[in-house]
Amino acid sequence: MSSIAPIGAFDSGMGGLTVVKELMQQLPNEQIIYYGDTARVPYGDKSKETILTYARQIMNFLVDQGVKAIIVACNTVSAVALEDLKNEFDIPVIGVVKPGAKAAAESTHTGRIGVIATRATINSGIYRDFLCRTNPEIEVFQQACPLFVPLVEEGWIDNEITDMIIHRYLDDLVKNNIDSLVLGCTHYPLLRDRIQLAVGDGITLVNPAFETSREFKYVLEENGLLNENEAAAPHRFYVSDGAARFADFAARILNGYTLTPESVTIHAFD
Ligand code: DGL
Repeated sequence: MSSIAPIGAFDSGMGGLTVVKELMQQLPNEQIIYYGDTARVPYGDKSKETILTYARQIMNFLVDQGVKAIIVACNTVSAVALEDLKNEFDIPVIGVVKPGAKAAAESTHTGRIGVIATRATINSGIYRDFLCRTNPEIEVFQQACPLFVPLVEEGWIDNEITDMIIHRYLDDLVKNNIDSLVLGCTHYPLLRDRIQLAVGDGITLVNPAFETSREFKYVLEENGLLNENEAAAPHRFYVSDGAARFADFAARILNGYTLTPESVTIHAFD
């Protein structure tokens, strides 16, 4: 596999763009091919079998595009399906959960960490497992926030209904005196300012995207796949539905980066 081949990234929808933003900064020479499964979002309440089937189809599609490595820019897929996907595909595949847990363990001073994520990620217990393995003294307090994903996909970032829902999910969680809060779903950094306002400045919000991109760079280097010489070819974006709306939203997340997403029917990639 050549180091000038593109890298793949995917999510159930627009959330993974928060990881793409970080990848663009940390790996400026890499061409990114992104798939957002906008027709089937959200993944967070679906079964492991369904999530694995969807992720497998997307990864087959990305491999078909010639990617040299894949970043699973979705906590839900990373939590329930990463090990299966790693076994099934023979290119490097990394998820967001392990790097996210590492960043949280480094951020806490009191050892009291909150994790918010989709129901599937919370029920998997994977953040708690990684955090407690890093340091058995750490106490983890979790809360599933299933309504955050549709709010973000709808573009409802700054309004009082969103603020009410944030308070409803987080007010009890912060009573546990946490000092760090993991945004354990790639959609949630898009609500970052509103969440910070709701929980107060004393709690550090941890976005796994930064640490994940750092680890991805390391994995590429280790495998001789880092594109060190070439300027990146234009990134490519694919969705399963709603290309125009995706383009609009993506431009906002990626600070005006203009893109023309293409619709691809993903079922064919079984
Ligand atoms: N953004 C994804 C995550 O990180 C999935 C959200 C969803 O589709 O429910 O978990």
